[in-house]
Amino acid sequence: MLKIENLSKNFGSFRAVNQINLQIDKGELYGFLGPNGAGKTTTIKMITGLLSPTEGNIYLNGNDVWLNPIESKMNLGYIPDQPFLYDKLTGREFLFFCGGLYNLSKNHIRNKIDGLIDLLKIGSWIDKRTEEYSQGMKQRIVIASAFIHDPKLIIVDEPMIGLDPQSAYIVKRFFTDSVKNGTTIFMSTHSLNVVEEICTRVGIINKGNIIFDDKLEVLRKLKDEKNNNFEELFIKLTNEE
Ligand SMILES: Nc1ncnc2c1ncn2[C@@H]1O[C@H](COP(=O)(O)OP(=O)(O)O)[C@@H](O)[C@H]1O
Ligand SMILES: [Mg+2]
Repeated sequence: MLKIENLSKNFGSFRAVNQINLQIDKGELYGFLGPNGAGKTTTIKMITGLLSPTEGNIYLNGNDVWLNPIESKMNLGYIPDQPFLYDKLTGREFLFFCGGLYNLSKNHIRNKIDGLIDLLKIGSWIDKRTEEYSQGMKQRIVIASAFIHDPKLIIVDEPMIGLDPQSAYIVKRFFTDSVKNGTTIFMSTHSLNVVEEICTRVGIINKGNIIFDDKLEVLRKLKDEKNNNFEELFIKLTNEE
């Protein structure tokens, strides 16, 4: 589904991402874990076409995302770490706007919105201006907008930050259900709890380097062997040079 080859990013003389290789298979909920400043957002911006790589390649279903940008974006849904909404549009208007960007018919968008309102429990908020929304409701609309064109791959950067418990629960359930229905999700987070709860595979990035990439069970085993809890293991892994 997604293949990252020798990907690096330099900002001046500083190397934020260092020669990373990752493969995300169809149907996975991949947790991209790392402390603040590790290089998660930089990696995600290169995958989504917002930041050009210093070196390396990114393939989505065998297509180079930088050589076939439009085709790649049709297959991709992106939920940024600082989502943007138009204050004066209602949730429904915003979703129609996003669907229009993908050339979807009005009827198709209408039906899709009905489904998403239900799954993300947006209810009557859908027809209120987004300036009235709580953080959690804003995040749910942004998530809906990333799913509007039924992309094969969803890239999401730190989705749980600032969410109230109810929204966090709804979002986690929506992600796990989407994966069961055949979507692939690549999710960055600095929260081990979220990874442990919902992810199938984990990559840990630290100072631009991948220091772990395997199934969640393998991380669990490592934790048990070292007699740590997840938090201790994470601190230990990310402090080792
Ligand atoms: N535009 C930029 N210019 C210079 N340095 C940057 C830029 N963007 C990110 N960085 C640096 O790159 C490193 C990785 O940042 P980032 O990818 O945002 O980390 P994360 O998302 O894992 O918290 C950090 O040290 C950050 O300060
Ligand atoms: Mg980040």
